[in-house]
Amino acid sequence: MEYINIGNVKIEKTAALAPMASVADRAYRLMCREYGAAYVVSEMVSAKGLCYSDRKTNELCTVTEAERPMAVQIFGSEPEFMKRAVEIVSGYNPDIIDINMGCPVPKVVGIGCGCSLMKDVKLAQEVASATVKASSVPVTVKFRKGWDDDNVNAVEFAKAMEASGVAAIAVHGRTREQFYTGKADWDIISEVKKSVSIPVIANGDVTDLQSCLEMYRQTGCDLVMIGRGSYGNPFVFKEISSYFKGESYIPPTVEQRMETMLRHIRLILETSEKAAELAIKEARKHAAWYMNGFYGSAKFRARCYNLSSYSEAEGLAEEFITLQKNR
Ligand SMILES: Cc1cc2nc3c(=O)[nH]c(=O)nc-3n(C[C@H](O)[C@H](O)[C@H](O)COP(=O)(O)O)c2cc1C
Repeated sequence: MEYINIGNVKIEKTAALAPMASVADRAYRLMCREYGAAYVVSEMVSAKGLCYSDRKTNELCTVTEAERPMAVQIFGSEPEFMKRAVEIVSGYNPDIIDINMGCPVPKVVGIGCGCSLMKDVKLAQEVASATVKASSVPVTVKFRKGWDDDNVNAVEFAKAMEASGVAAIAVHGRTREQFYTGKADWDIISEVKKSVSIPVIANGDVTDLQSCLEMYRQTGCDLVMIGRGSYGNPFVFKEISSYFKGESYIPPTVEQRMETMLRHIRLILETSEKAAELAIKEARKHAAWYMNGFYGSAKFRARCYNLSSYSEAEGLAEEFITLQKNR
């Protein structure tokens, strides 16, 4: 088993879970770690929101032991707020602080944050430097290929981030304009890797062991990061980590898949700060994802989207198993 070091943080060179707001919450991260994700990142937190003690601070910034190694991801465009945000986040003892410079959503780029910083490299450097200076743990930056096809600057941006003192970078091979459509450009990640000496985490369109190995091969990256490929599929991390550990991997049976789904829902209910009636709503999309691609999943999806209790989920799981067995 190989490892990479981000500053003083040792991480298995297998696959990491990408940050995903409204998806990769504590329950999701715990599931993925349990199945072998090497490293996880929190949902993004606004630096300014932290400074004004947003009510979601605790939920978003808490790092539990089972999640480590874990980064808390912050976004912001004002160095002074980043500095104060680091002081607050540090109270939660993250292993790493990650800065989001890749978010494409209008609400975030509209206030000069996320991927918008790729259009102002100088400001991005100030933001990164201020964060590095304030932090006692390694700081990383996650960004994209560029803003649009006419403004592809990932290589220049990577060098600027390295010069700002960040310990590693994560690159998603799409432009802001692409959002999550089209194909991720792995060649640009390869270019980035050649241009810096800090670790490069490669991200975009990895969904299984084969694409993970291909990403390592094509880009020479130090670590692969998986987002949507883990929807209803923490098994992807088991498949990948088993390979690197030289262990055999057997895909889950439909019963195991449903057991995992139910465990995930129990974790959501246990870890959510919301009341059970609201927390179960969070579980709906996950339940549907665990059934995706299977016979009859379209019908089940609609029912998952109406889940209102855990016992209902147990019933659905049983029916789903029966359907797969009798088809
Ligand atoms: C629902 C959703 C939420 C996301 N939230 C974040 C976020 O909070 N911070 C971030 O840096 N990237 C976020 N991303 C981007 C992912 O981390 C990742 O870069 C992207 O999904 C591409 O990887 P994939 O092809 O493996 O999914 C999000 C993506 C999705 C689909």
